[in-house]
Amino acid sequence: MIKTFDLISNSDVTIRKALASFVQKDRVYKNNYLQANYKKAFDGYSFIGQKDSLNQYDTDMLHSFVLSDFQEVEHFPKEFHPFLKNEWKPLIKRIKALELASIKKLNNSILEQLYKDDVIGYMMSCNYYPKPLKYSAFAKNNTRLSAHKDVSLFTTFPFGIANGLSFFNEEKNRVAVGEKNTIIQFSGYFLEFVSQHKIKALEHQVNLPKDLNTERYSFAIFSIPKPNISFWLGNKKIESNNYYKKYLSLF
Ligand SMILES: [Fe+2]
Repeated sequence: MIKTFDLISNSDVTIRKALASFVQKDRVYKNNYLQANYKKAFDGYSFIGQKDSLNQYDTDMLHSFVLSDFQEVEHFPKEFHPFLKNEWKPLIKRIKALELASIKKLNNSILEQLYKDDVIGYMMSCNYYPKPLKYSAFAKNNTRLSAHKDVSLFTTFPFGIANGLSFFNEEKNRVAVGEKNTIIQFSGYFLEFVSQHKIKALEHQVNLPKDLNTERYSFAIFSIPKPNISFWLGNKKIESNNYYKKYLSLF
């Protein structure tokens, strides 16, 4: 279900600083970077209460910024440039190696072909959950982030994970992951899609903390089919943007 690996670096200092400083900027500045301005996969900023975010509900209690290798670095806010210029490539290289190792074990030639054909690209969801005190009245099912499956082939938390993430196991019981100082990897909906539902995506959520004065950061890397391409799954031709639509229709 969830796989763990040794950390590459336990330092999310650069990206955490970038996200914190972006979130503190005024609304006018941040609005330049909404998903509607990028229109490429899931790239861009989503704020608390936003009705038209592609990756969070208006009841979710986080600010998120999706970075990717689908754009030039310069298209992202300058706060993220040091991370994207200095840390992105080695991080993705390591994540990709872990994914290829996981895929080898699955012994699935269609999946291996996707990597060989350069179909798979990477995005990173950078998430900041402010103290939920002032939002908790709106909390849905006692969550900060409601239950969902990811759009990804794999989702990887490269810097470990803070308390709060829980998932549903095969018996439909909720299991808390707890704080982890290891890389965490789990399957997303694209793996479910490609395997024709033989391998299930992990349904997960972030619970409200007991102490409503607790902030939270998380950084998750998603492998997904690159935007605006078509690719083959066996003898079936798929448009990546149609896959995104199919995924979004789950919600
Ligand atoms: Fe998720």
